[in-house]
Amino acid sequence: MGSLNKEEEMEQIAEEPKEAILYVNGVRKVLPDGFAHFTLLDYLRDAGLTGTKLGCGEGGCGACTVMVSHYDRKMKKCMHYSVNACLTPLYSVEGMHVITVEGVGNRKRGLHPIQESLVRSHGSQCGFCTPGFIMSLYALLRSSETPPSEEQIEESLAGNLCRCTGYRPIVDAFRVFSKTSDALYAGISSLSLQEGEFICPSTGKPCSCGSKTVHDIDTNDQSICSTRYKPLSYSEVDGSTYTDKELIFPPELLRRKLTPLNLSGLGGLKWYRPLTIKDVLELKEKYPNVKLLVGNTEVGIEMRLKRIPYQVLISVAHVPDLNILNVKDDGIEIGAAVRLTELLNLFREVVTQRPAHETSACKAFIEQLKWFAGTQIRNVASVGGNVCTASPISDLNPLWMAAGAKFRIINCNGNIRTTPAENFFLDYRKVDLTSNEILLSIVLPWTRPFEYVKEFKQAHRRDDDIAIVNAGMRVCLEEKGEEWVVSDASVAYGGVAPLSVCATKTKEFLIGKEWNQDVLRGALNVLRTDIVLKEDAPGGMVEFRRSLTLSFFFKFFLWVSHQIEGNKSIKESVPLSHLSAIKSFHRPPLVASQDYEIRKHGTSVGSPEVHLSSRLQVTGEAEYTDDTPMPPNGLHAALVLSKKPHARILSIDDSGAKSSPGFAGIFFAKDVPGSNKIGSIVLDEELFASEFVTCVGQVIGIVVADTHENAKLAAGKVHIEYEELPAILSIEDAIGAKSFHPNSQKLMRKGDVDLCFQSDQCEKIIEGKVQVGGQEHFYLETQSSLVWTMDSGNEVHMISSTQSPRKHQVYVSHVLGLPMSKVVCKTKRIGGGFGGKETRSAFIAAAAAVPSYLMNRPVKLTLDRDIDMIISGQRHSFLGKYKVGFTNKGKVLALDLQIYNNAGNSLDLSLAVLQCAMFHSDNVYEIPNVRILGSVCFTNLPSNTAFRGFGGPQGMLIAENWIQRIALELKKSPEQIREINFQGEGSIMHYGQQLEHCTLAQVWNELKVSCDFLKVREEVDEFNLQNRWKKRGVAMIPTKFGISFTNKFLNQAGALVNVYTDGTVLVTHGGVEMGQGLHTKVAQVAASAFNIPLNSVFISETSTDKVPNASPTAASASSDMYAAAALDACEQIKARIEPIASQRNFSSFAELVTACYLERIDLSAHGFYITPDIGFDWSTCKGKPFSYYTYGAAFAEVEIDTLTGDFHTRTANVYMDLGYSLNPAIDVGQVEGAFIQGLGWVALEELKWGDASHKWVPSGCLYTCGPGSYKIPSLNDIPFEFNVSLLKGNPNVKAIHSSKAVGEPPFFMASSVFFAIKYAILAARAETGHTGWFPLDNPATPERIRMACLDEFTAPFVSSDFHPKLSV
Ligand SMILES: Cc1cc2nc3c(=O)[nH]c(=O)nc-3n(C[C@H](O)[C@H](O)[C@H](O)COP(=O)(O)OP(=O)(O)OC[C@H]3O[C@@H](n4cnc5c(N)ncnc54)[C@H](O)[C@@H]3O)c2cc1C
Ligand code: FES
Ligand code: FES
Repeated sequence: MGSLNKEEEMEQIAEEPKEAILYVNGVRKVLPDGFAHFTLLDYLRDAGLTGTKLGCGEGGCGACTVMVSHYDRKMKKCMHYSVNACLTPLYSVEGMHVITVEGVGNRKRGLHPIQESLVRSHGSQCGFCTPGFIMSLYALLRSSETPPSEEQIEESLAGNLCRCTGYRPIVDAFRVFSKTSDALYAGISSLSLQEGEFICPSTGKPCSCGSKTVHDIDTNDQSICSTRYKPLSYSEVDGSTYTDKELIFPPELLRRKLTPLNLSGLGGLKWYRPLTIKDVLELKEKYPNVKLLVGNTEVGIEMRLKRIPYQVLISVAHVPDLNILNVKDDGIEIGAAVRLTELLNLFREVVTQRPAHETSACKAFIEQLKWFAGTQIRNVASVGGNVCTASPISDLNPLWMAAGAKFRIINCNGNIRTTPAENFFLDYRKVDLTSNEILLSIVLPWTRPFEYVKEFKQAHRRDDDIAIVNAGMRVCLEEKGEEWVVSDASVAYGGVAPLSVCATKTKEFLIGKEWNQDVLRGALNVLRTDIVLKEDAPGGMVEFRRSLTLSFFFKFFLWVSHQIEGNKSIKESVPLSHLSAIKSFHRPPLVASQDYEIRKHGTSVGSPEVHLSSRLQVTGEAEYTDDTPMPPNGLHAALVLSKKPHARILSIDDSGAKSSPGFAGIFFAKDVPGSNKIGSIVLDEELFASEFVTCVGQVIGIVVADTHENAKLAAGKVHIEYEELPAILSIEDAIGAKSFHPNSQKLMRKGDVDLCFQSDQCEKIIEGKVQVGGQEHFYLETQSSLVWTMDSGNEVHMISSTQSPRKHQVYVSHVLGLPMSKVVCKTKRIGGGFGGKETRSAFIAAAAAVPSYLMNRPVKLTLDRDIDMIISGQRHSFLGKYKVGFTNKGKVLALDLQIYNNAGNSLDLSLAVLQCAMFHSDNVYEIPNVRILGSVCFTNLPSNTAFRGFGGPQGMLIAENWIQRIALELKKSPEQIREINFQGEGSIMHYGQQLEHCTLAQVWNELKVSCDFLKVREEVDEFNLQNRWKKRGVAMIPTKFGISFTNKFLNQAGALVNVYTDGTVLVTHGGVEMGQGLHTKVAQVAASAFNIPLNSVFISETSTDKVPNASPTAASASSDMYAAAALDACEQIKARIEPIASQRNFSSFAELVTACYLERIDLSAHGFYITPDIGFDWSTCKGKPFSYYTYGAAFAEVEIDTLTGDFHTRTANVYMDLGYSLNPAIDVGQVEGAFIQGLGWVALEELKWGDASHKWVPSGCLYTCGPGSYKIPSLNDIPFEFNVSLLKGNPNVKAIHSSKAVGEPPFFMASSVFFAIKYAILAARAETGHTGWFPLDNPATPERIRMACLDEFTAPFVSSDFHPKLSV
């Protein structure tokens, strides 16, 4: 909605513009020629608007979301919509208004209600995704005339990913703006809210507290709601009436007419914007190989990621003939440039206006478009772009084909021909268009009575994912006597061939047949020969894809049969137990609770304070490494990377790079001034590979140039000759070749395993193996460092996105040959780390340091998402081989475990990760006899590294696998077996540590009661009896996570506390803020120590010159250690000021410290903390590695679609014992975020490497190297009901203010979802008589779920022991 009142008048006075312009946040900008290669994101970030982030560059994460507004002369109104700035060509927004997060609200002007609400709901952790979420909702609100529904709000966020929060707090923050909470929109307007009153994000009602808490122990509580918050009314938010708080649509743009554009870009790129079809055709005639652009969501990817150098681009988005939407008597005509959002809106309108029988196809399109990309993509992507790209997995093309659509094609002479969609697709990305033709429009016919069209799609993830297989099916039935006979049919598939294909034999078979079980059986038989997928088909998963073709048809049969039920004579009705198979997925609004107590200590400790940086994060003012302005004379770097997994380097030709535009320098191993040998624990890596490469993506050299693009271009021109050598690409390969890292085999033992197995105590013995998949960190901010020299290289400084500034300092001083005292690394905040920036960020900084030092110029190296994923390592995949002895009651007596992790080509932290897995291989179970032999495998893959849980989850997952298997052997529930074997107070671990203050039984029992486990399980079993094709499952899983670095020396922490005379306090400590709220907790401790308000304490950054020798921020122990170190410093200062404080009463802290200053008292102190009472002897593998344990338990209920493998989590309840939380809101955020990240690991995120299992991927290469192919959980994947409870009344005597560590322990809780899925699969398998144990690897993707649910649709393709492939 715009504020324009007199559009017609405006039309008359519309002006012909003289220059290309753009408005950004209300400011007019002239667009110079020469920037056709620029995206809107490049432009904004270059202009200093760095609130808009680069997370992936491929439209897959939403971090770059901005709002575009333009005046639509046809509609006579302002259109507002969200777009991905990373895919939006700069010139495509010429004449428009772009609003970025900076234009929505900021600290000086005041926060927008969306921003304020997100802050108060704790919806911003690392903050890197935050501006994107704000902008998606902002655009929705500005474009809605009435408040959106909760469903619409959730839908608008489908294209935004967050890796930290688990989405719940974001949904809570945003649902305030939905219809259900009227306060902001209707009667209860801002006027009726009292000063300081806040709309609770959870309830949508005014309240005085931002969270649901149980009780507040401290009486002198202060409200966490700032009194500055004044909600706006809805009309202010949607922009239909502007206020001074909303940026108006620039009046100049109302008057201004769009004009044709003819501009250029780098390398002779030509950019045209014709405004008539005639001009389009003329240009097409002139440039037959031209690329037409509408949304640029295909071409953008091709040019930037696939590096296809198109020379001429024609933006046809504004050509009226290509934008028609005509509802006619015979159907709908849709212009080729019509955007998918418009199409969806039209279909939605049409189904309410036309007779139901006419709109069967429209309904199918509505359903399919719901799962087509995210909102930002749908807002710009066109129908014609989708059709003409002819992707074999296009979601729409099979539907156009099935629905009988016709494509209207125009040639350069203006002649129009029509062709059926069925005949349009010729081959892989090849269509029936000659070089002088373009697609003009599509005509979709209305359906007739008893004509049914249905869509199908199965992807890895429901939201914003491309299909694995999709389909469009249509059948037209005629009543003949007592029978329904097929008079016409069409069955089309995507994802089963290089192009969308029609199952023509199936169609022929169907026509003329009666619609009954016989035709179903016959059609399935024909389909199997009609759609043939080759064994080595690109994309793999052939058995799954084959099965899906049959499953989809079966669903179609059921659906059509159900449609005609009630319509006169149908002989065979759909059995009730089959009905749920055709029920489409619907996500109800999220229900969530967070249950905790507040134990206050002093002014701040214990309060659910909001993250200290969140107000900067929601406005985009928070700076990350890549946002740091480039110093004068700065250069951008790109890495030269190995393309082979194992090879000798024969020659390097860098002449192409040297003549590349903007080139400034190139450096290899021979140029490293200090040592080229690097490594985190042992020096087993080279900074730049000198003679051999041992993985794809290994760094061979570095190029610097004037721009990032030019640096990448030059790096791509370095030509390297290799002699290829045999590569080891999996754990099994490594075991076969005895390829282990030196000195990396470890043994832990307790009791006598062999004796126990031989004794008759063990009534049953089972043996098996568990494969555990890896996981990509997918922090939203990729690895980045900016390095510069001072005094001509005498000193080197850097800003890095790292969890370990010290490691960067060590690496850089080492490779440059400088003393550590001359190298400084600073980190303000990082956009997520999760372990991925603990060690693997350091070689990136060290690489950038080489050109910076040698050229004496600042150098910035920020990795693109794909490079980051390819080279920086992941969570280790594991293989566990177990032998377990137990009694008939289920008491475990002996565990013999061999455990292997896939370290990749360097040791990095892999040995410590393996040991952590070994420590956690008992999970929570008392086992009298244990032997665990661990080995670290050397493979030719990039070095794997730390990831939340550090091997613990892998060890525990292996344990829960054999627990589950024992249960099946004994025909008991896994929960029974768990309970029988629980450890308790005084239990002695297999490494010698004794459990103290064990709260395992308490969390387990509270969870069991709260989720009413036994009743829910009964209900689930009942559901499973009633439903053949949908099954539900439940599981309860416990956890015990050891807290401390297992290397004793790392358990030390320092902090520097400076008190200033105005009473404010600056704390600097060795820990890094990566979204986990560390700085907030440390500041709370300092505030309580000095008895001052939290806002008097500030933490600016982490810096190696303020606090030296800091351990990485990892192992969950940072708040324990850095808060204690800060407290130590505060106590020292308090002791010094005490003599003055005791002399008289001071009116304020400022007055007191000023008096101390005048008395020459030192108001600065360095605090230090070492974790007491720990120590482990690695030679005997005995001792006390952990200071204490964090306990938890989780319940999950899931539902799976056995025909497609689709699943969703209906409920998840998590209980954690976190002692007396320093900040329960932050801790709840950690629990929720860890759970959803864990859910990704167990059920969604699959790494596919070019190995023996994936021969269609080049050897050693990572296929899943971007958000397009690697799917982290989106909002749609979170449980329908998500409850988090923190155990009450249990102080932890081992950590500061009785708190407990939280970062890693809840991660494993998501395995409850995995085992609930397994429960559901067991129920499905039982239907076909398969009742025994079966292996299920994580992630339990749709492929694994579906293929485990053996039935008549999998039987033609696989045997009952089929096991989908996994890169391990
Ligand atoms: C993050 C992301 C998610 C996606 N998700 C999905 C998904 O879920 N399902 C799916 O099917 N696709 C998906 N896609 C693919 C893509 O969005 C669609 O194919 C989209 O419809 C392309 O439209 P566009 O306007 O952006 O095409 P553009 O990139 O502008 O153009 C694409 C091609 O079409 C040609 N072209 C355009 N118009 C005409 C015309 N009138 N005549 C002849 N040729 C023409 C162009 O020359 C060009 O080669 C996704 C893409 C991204 C980046
Ligand atoms: S950066 Fe644009 S969507 Fe990820
Ligand atoms: S807060 Fe969302 S990615 Fe970090």
